Amino acid sequence: MSNYHIKHLEEYFQVYRKSVQNPEAFWEEIAEEHFVWRSKWDRVLSWDFTKPEIKWFEGAELNITENCLDRHLPTKRNNTAIIFEPNDPKEEAQHITYGQLHESVCRMANVLKENGIKKGDRICVYLPMIPELAYTVLACARVGAIHSVVFAGFSSNALATRINDCDCKMVITSDGSYRGNKIIDLKGIVDVALEDCPGVEKVLVTKRTGGKVKMKKNRDFWLKPLLDEAYADNDAERMKSEDPLFILYTSGSTGKPKGMVHTCAGYMVYTAYTFKNIFQYRDGDVYWCTADIGWITGHSYIIYGPLANGATTVMFEGVPSYPDYGRFWEVVEKHKVNQFYTAPTAIRALAKENLEFVEKYDLSSLKVLGSVGEPINEEAWHWYNNNVGHGKSPIVDTWWQTETGGIMISPIPYVTPTTPTYATLPFIGIQPALMDEEGHEIMGIQVDGRLCIKFPWPSMARTIWGDHERYRDTYFTAYKNKYFTGDGAMRDEVGYYRITGRVDDVIIVSGHNLGTAPIEDAINEHPAVAESAIVGFPHDIKGNALYGFVILKEIGEARDRENLKKEINQQITEHIGPIAKLDKIQFVPGLPKTRSGKIMRRILRKIASGDTENLGDISTLLNPEVVKEVMDNAL
Ligand code: WT7
Repeated sequence: MSNYHIKHLEEYFQVYRKSVQNPEAFWEEIAEEHFVWRSKWDRVLSWDFTKPEIKWFEGAELNITENCLDRHLPTKRNNTAIIFEPNDPKEEAQHITYGQLHESVCRMANVLKENGIKKGDRICVYLPMIPELAYTVLACARVGAIHSVVFAGFSSNALATRINDCDCKMVITSDGSYRGNKIIDLKGIVDVALEDCPGVEKVLVTKRTGGKVKMKKNRDFWLKPLLDEAYADNDAERMKSEDPLFILYTSGSTGKPKGMVHTCAGYMVYTAYTFKNIFQYRDGDVYWCTADIGWITGHSYIIYGPLANGATTVMFEGVPSYPDYGRFWEVVEKHKVNQFYTAPTAIRALAKENLEFVEKYDLSSLKVLGSVGEPINEEAWHWYNNNVGHGKSPIVDTWWQTETGGIMISPIPYVTPTTPTYATLPFIGIQPALMDEEGHEIMGIQVDGRLCIKFPWPSMARTIWGDHERYRDTYFTAYKNKYFTGDGAMRDEVGYYRITGRVDDVIIVSGHNLGTAPIEDAINEHPAVAESAIVGFPHDIKGNALYGFVILKEIGEARDRENLKKEINQQITEHIGPIAKLDKIQFVPGLPKTRSGKIMRRILRKIASGDTENLGDISTLLNPEVVKEVMDNAL
């Protein structure tokens, strides 16, 4: 039996038992046998969820890039590490070997050092899905700089907030990016952002579109000549296990985005181990995750997890609808993809189109299909299973979060029998608990509650950058001695988990985590707006869409309503990005509030989804009369 690669259900149960009965011995063995360390740990785990403080493999030293690159060179120098599939199918794909990847990362690491970057510095990475993005992320890790990748669909405003929050001194970007038939002026967005970022000393710019850009003297530099001059070898920095590896921002229900901090050793061990098992990756397989590296899915399951296993990972620059709705399947056929990992929103969008787009292609290479980001509805599950997997590729519905670093609840394909819409069983080492509202654990089967995790796992985020108190308050105060996920879940009669969705004010739109507060703040900055409230409502393709209830000021009352709606969405696009635009905007005279002044989102959610039969008790509201008015004019 191998603890590293689980192949049978009995093995899963045995290994799971071991991992929870003696977590330290279990993780020590995994860490010892499957990774390279500069020096070993003094202690496997110390933790205290009240502080909270979590440390894995304390005392050890390593560099994650030696695990992702150097150690594979003797056996895999000429194997493909990354297949780069460009936006335009007419542009040739690139097969980047481990040897080439190592060299590019070393050159980039040397460029960073030459440009004043030291261990612990923060670097903002704002790049499209091109090979330079992988080089940059890994080069940061190699020199011990903390990367903060910002999804290149965020606006200059959102970018500036993230740059300033963790005091990045460098930004790495490109002239532009391709997205379907659009060209986006990334450098222009960076230029606007940097007007508000005095801490940024240098900007390195890679060429992608050849578009016209302004280069600011002594601040902006083209990357290519720097890379050409740099040495092709670089000694990786010795990193302590708990040194930060990266910061990645995620929305909270309130306030500014949270910079989740992940650290070197535990993150490496857990992402590699989950990747191996949850995708049943075997040497020679071609694995493709369609996410963007701007999200945690891309960090853990395009870059670190696959490369730590010496895998071949596809990086796709484009979108599922360009040049037509068959693009995903064309790429699967072309590169003979074995494991395919995508989001339910993409599946739903493709399922709406003609079946010919998928039937046209040979998908027989596929062995495992993955889903992530939001609950997958039954219809989408069956479409995926029938038309993509032809009933022979198990679907792994993987539940996890930016904060958890790696997959937490998921079937292991060919091991765990799957059930549509169920994430099924906790992965090795994960101890979930369902809690009631009074704070008691709900035991037994056929129950539902709030999903918590009661024991640390190696890849959990260690803090929120610059705000440890917020980290404690958000995740460790709702339930004593437990990590609270913000999700609700049920456990069925065989112990399978089904995630039912967020129980807080975070809304998942097209698999993107959007907090209501920053969107409301953006709207409220419009001069005609007095107050607003955002809720989610069910949407065929996006899973949820956004519904805004907006109270106008007197000056707004006189304005053209349709124009105002456009301006409000424009305002959101500028502050956050187009992903946060509202599908529906209703102007209202007031918002239902509790006596303490809190907006009753529960009621607004029901109105937005047209479910007004049973609004529950509204008698305790400050202004119950407003409810009828809002309901009568609902869109
Ligand atoms: C939230 C985390 C982790 C990858 C991308 C999202 C929801 C995620 C599932 C799933 C049901 C899911 C949860 C979670 N979610 N995967 N398989 N089934 N819900 O990361 O942006 O941090 O969002 O996404 O609500 O809390 P994220």
